Amino acid sequence: MAIVQRPYVILSALVIAGAAALTPTAQAIKPPETPELLAAGKLRYGRACLACHGEEGRGDGPASFFMGAYSGPRPKDFTSGDYKLRSTPTGELPTDQDLFDTVTNGVPGLMPSFSSLSEEARWAVIAYIKSFSPAFRKPRADALPIPDPPFPSSSASVERGRAVYLQQQCEFCHGPDGRGDEPAAFASGAMTVRGKRMPAPDLTHRPMYKHGAAPRDLYRTLVTGMDGSPMPSYAHAFKDRPEDIWNLVYYVLSLSEKRREGP
Ligand code: HEC
Ligand code: HEC
Repeated sequence: MAIVQRPYVILSALVIAGAAALTPTAQAIKPPETPELLAAGKLRYGRACLACHGEEGRGDGPASFFMGAYSGPRPKDFTSGDYKLRSTPTGELPTDQDLFDTVTNGVPGLMPSFSSLSEEARWAVIAYIKSFSPAFRKPRADALPIPDPPFPSSSASVERGRAVYLQQQCEFCHGPDGRGDEPAAFASGAMTVRGKRMPAPDLTHRPMYKHGAAPRDLYRTLVTGMDGSPMPSYAHAFKDRPEDIWNLVYYVLSLSEKRREGP
């Protein structure tokens, strides 16, 4: 996939879709946030991010005109909280490593990957976007522990996962077969955030998952939720039956296996 990192080729960025499944980036060594790093970050931001995220980080850069004007997300407003791609509990800011992963991986269909920038350049731009919000100067929550799957997928766990999917009313927004865009959900207002329609993704198409499609990625998405979107956190839904979150993960993943098999 072509890596796009210049604002003037933004239109090609808009058609980027179907990035490979997310691979967690290695734990990167973060340089100290010196005034020099911040200044380098500001320069880099001007070249690589401003067109979408705007001069003052409000998500209103010139290219943002094309993005989410009527439905779907706008480029992130860095002056507010509400980050989707976090390893922290709902309502919390992301960790620095979360931001690093987002910049490295991009967001399928919406934001290019910046993995071609040096790690130092990525950390510099992260220091700069954090400076748009004073909340980043306060102590922040740590990443939640994400365990390894305690058992592998099986037809029994997928079957149990389907029951959990129905019981937790995932189908209200995602539809009975995970293809999303449920008219009833839109009509109820559950899919509208700040007056804008926020469509649910087609869960049968894994490359479009923003936060990865490995079992542990899905576990994290369910536990953290995607703040600023209708996707809630299910951190407290599985207290009595912790194995059910894994059954649900395997069911969601089975939706895209069916897709590969065809109709
Ligand atoms: C082509 C436009 C575009 C460019 C260029 C771009 N972004 Fe984004 N970015 C977006 C959009 C759109 C979103 C919102 C994605 C969503 O809500 O699903 C976003 C979201 C984000 C987020 C928040 C993700 C979350 O957890 O909610 C971060 C952090 C971010 N961008 C950083 C950057 C940085 C740093 C750069 C420059 C190195 C950059 N972006 C360049 C369009 C862009
Ligand atoms: C109120 C509506 C709603 C409910 C209920 C809901 N979701 Fe979502 N979900 C969404 C929306 C909207 C998105 C897209 C968020 C975005 O990318 O901006 C989403 C995104 C997702 C994603 C994609 C994550 C990614 O990495 O991009 C998965 C997987 C998912 N939901 C699974 C579930 C499961 C499983 C349940 C039930 C336990 C559930 N959702 C319940 C609305 C909902």
